Amino acid sequence: MQTITITGGHTLHGTIRPAAAKNSVLPLLAATLLCGGPCCLRGAPELSDVDTSLALLQAVGAKAVRHGPDLCTLPVAAQGLCGEIPPPLAGAMRSSVFYLAPLLCRTGMVRLPLPGGCRLGPRPVDIHLSGLAAMGAKVELEGEAVTLRRFGPLQGVDFTLRLPSVGATITLVMAACCAMGTTVLRGAACEPEVCDLVEFLRSCGAQITGEGTPVLVIRGRQALDGITYTPMPDRIAAATYAAAVAVTGGKITVAGCAPRYYEAFLRFLEDCGVEVRRGENGAELARDPGRQLRGGQHLYANGWPAFATDNAPLAAAVLLTADRPSEIYDHLFANRFACAAGFAALGADCRAEGRRLWIAGNAVLQGAPVQAPDLRGGAALLVAALAARGTTQLRDPGHIRRGYADLPAELEKLGARCSARRQATPERTPATG
Ligand code: EPU
Repeated sequence: MQTITITGGHTLHGTIRPAAAKNSVLPLLAATLLCGGPCCLRGAPELSDVDTSLALLQAVGAKAVRHGPDLCTLPVAAQGLCGEIPPPLAGAMRSSVFYLAPLLCRTGMVRLPLPGGCRLGPRPVDIHLSGLAAMGAKVELEGEAVTLRRFGPLQGVDFTLRLPSVGATITLVMAACCAMGTTVLRGAACEPEVCDLVEFLRSCGAQITGEGTPVLVIRGRQALDGITYTPMPDRIAAATYAAAVAVTGGKITVAGCAPRYYEAFLRFLEDCGVEVRRGENGAELARDPGRQLRGGQHLYANGWPAFATDNAPLAAAVLLTADRPSEIYDHLFANRFACAAGFAALGADCRAEGRRLWIAGNAVLQGAPVQAPDLRGGAALLVAALAARGTTQLRDPGHIRRGYADLPAELEKLGARCSARRQATPERTPATG
């Protein structure tokens, strides 16, 4: 358990650069299993989900190590790989699901105990499984585990996803790279992290078109090389820093992350009264701490390019002190707003009703003990505490460190007063992703 102590009321100034995106690095690590040569991912952040991925790769016989800021993998012969994913590693993160397709392709069999993940509501994997089954995989569900086998190579298909799942699109793109013939994926997710995976695979030799649109076309069975690749910046971390300066006031530059990656969030901040200056590869955000933010916002979180679900709790943190009531609806996850209890403990008047969060605004926030309920909810509580009078103790059973290498230290560099203390007794950290 980590306790983050935040003393609110300090404006932020300076420049900050988000690390590589967690939600890109994690599938990219799985995709390296498809490559016939060594791969290196540049500037991969030190997150606990990255450590879990390295452990998972090693557990199935792959060779993956950290070299300073980079993560490097070596090619392994199929005979050296095993398709059994150990339950503790599967349950430790949602991203264990990304190993289904590569291990099925390479070894002919994969067994995945139920993947973990933030408790954001039900998170089935039916689209991953039905897509793989359409390509010829035999799917067996047994208790809490799924086993996939193939007898011969997977076959290219024309498959329509029942909804544009990011994870299922990633699974099916990877599987299609190994399948015989052409695969057409319809209703695919258009998120930048999907595009990043496609760019990585294409640089390795894959033939894929249509990324960023709902129709992807993949010609399979091309030999994939190993490459050195720089994953895209973390757009959710960029939004986190932007939310922080919105609540404290001050002026910061978020460098190295194109504004288009979090344009919906920047537009929301402008609507609230934050000044945003966009550059090609960065954004400058300024807010006069003497002026109250504008509320009256109605946000609807959905898949790209709509307002990102991961940014919904951060938007809520910004709206707590705004001058009018606002509401946020999350189309993707049924339990996105578990952080509402923490906001209320800090003195905000807000109500989470299913997928909807109603926020009264005009809160005078006061530091209090709160607990991070999940990764993005934890980050949002940290942001809200920056705007509170007095000191907040944010207890975090390990959620925040899964998405941000050291969020308190990053914010301190901008002038926030926050520090993290790790409790000596180790505890089992919850799953996320
Ligand atoms: N869904 C299904 N069946 C499936 C797959 C998804 O019903 O087979 C549903 C889910 O239950 C959910 C919706 O579809 O209601 C969207 O899920 P999606 O598959 O798009 O999300 P994901 O792949 O599980 C990734 C990120 C999440 C991010 C979402 C949406 C990773 C590891 N996780 O999850 O990130 O919120 O896409 O953009 O890439 C986070 O970083 O904190 C996080 C939760």
